[in-house]
Amino acid sequence: PETITVAELANRMAERVGDVVKALMQNGVMATQNQTIDADTAELIIEEFGHRMTRVSDADVEDVIKEVEDAPEDLLPRPPVITIMGHVDHGKTSLLDAIRDAKVTAGEAGGITQHIGAYQVQTDSGATLSFLDTPGHAAFTSMRSRGAQVTDIVVLVVAADDAVMPQTVEAINHAKAAGVPMIVAINKIDKPEANPTKVRTDLLQHEIVVEEMSGDVQDVEVSAHTGQGLDELLEAIALQAEILELKANPNRAAQGAVIEAQLDVGRGPVATVLVQHGTLRRGDIFVVGEQYGKVRALINDKGERVEEAGPSVPVEVLGLNGTPEAGDVLNVVETEGQAREIAEYRQQAAKDKRAAAGAATSLDQLLAKA
Ligand code: GTP
Ligand code: MG
Repeated sequence: PETITVAELANRMAERVGDVVKALMQNGVMATQNQTIDADTAELIIEEFGHRMTRVSDADVEDVIKEVEDAPEDLLPRPPVITIMGHVDHGKTSLLDAIRDAKVTAGEAGGITQHIGAYQVQTDSGATLSFLDTPGHAAFTSMRSRGAQVTDIVVLVVAADDAVMPQTVEAINHAKAAGVPMIVAINKIDKPEANPTKVRTDLLQHEIVVEEMSGDVQDVEVSAHTGQGLDELLEAIALQAEILELKANPNRAAQGAVIEAQLDVGRGPVATVLVQHGTLRRGDIFVVGEQYGKVRALINDKGERVEEAGPSVPVEVLGLNGTPEAGDVLNVVETEGQAREIAEYRQQAAKDKRAAAGAATSLDQLLAKA
């Protein structure tokens, strides 16, 4: 059942809390400002104050957050978004760090000191690539199941001294299920015991035929330690991206996906968002999952404040009312009222769902005992 606190009801009607409490009392309802009342009681009070109640529905939300199909002429090229996956200890983090270190010159805004869960690099041939730093397999799957397909290309890291392992297979399956093309990075090639041929033949068993074996999956031998093959890997990614002809419309209300989010002591809730459609700007009003806000500041992967972020650009977003979850979708909306209404509607829906799940569990337990 829908409920609202007396204080919130007063706030939404722009009436004094005391007046609302009084009106409730006159209707035989004793409630202090922090107590909740049900929707029917709220409606009664709303009408007494001469306002009209609107109940938000799924359809209303869909009305505000429309899935617009962009006209082909509005689409412009955008950088690819790359996720690195692979078995534990095969060098995913080392590879990301090596790419970042190799591509960020020391003079550039003091280098990247900040960790924002995603970053962009420029290849020598001038292509821009967006790397996602966080998603492990779990995050990748959970994002996908929540409709936030963020990755265009998966780089599958396989250590040359260990070959294909269980999580390598898992990563292959995730990439296949998502329909995302893959590039194989055969890592730790600097090790004396490195055996890249074993990696390639192992992959055959999972229907991954790399170019070296006359297949069409690009494979590159790399070392995160020595830097060998890194440029080649970046060019392989750029080439794959060219084939995909990735495009987005930068001129519409922004939509993005939360890569990670946390409550920062000094700055409040902060979310790293990968913009997917449109351009996110300072001052934009948005709803993100069960939270909402107004963009107070945007901070890029170099720790610089920026005015806007277009498609495939990762940015930190400040100005949230609460902390969203990784995988939540951010949508820019027209008014703060809309943003708050949608966020609250989703909060309520989530609460109802949890309550229903709780009830089902206890019923199951009851039946199990009988
Ligand atoms: P998880 O996040 O735990 O799954 O591991 P990961 O895949 O991120 O691997 P990580 O980058 O932490 O590397 C694991 C170990 O392998 C570390 O000790 C690295 O120093 C080492 N390592 C990574 N890349 C290379 C490489 O190219 N050559 C050598 N010799 N060692 C490497
Ligand atoms: Mg790691």
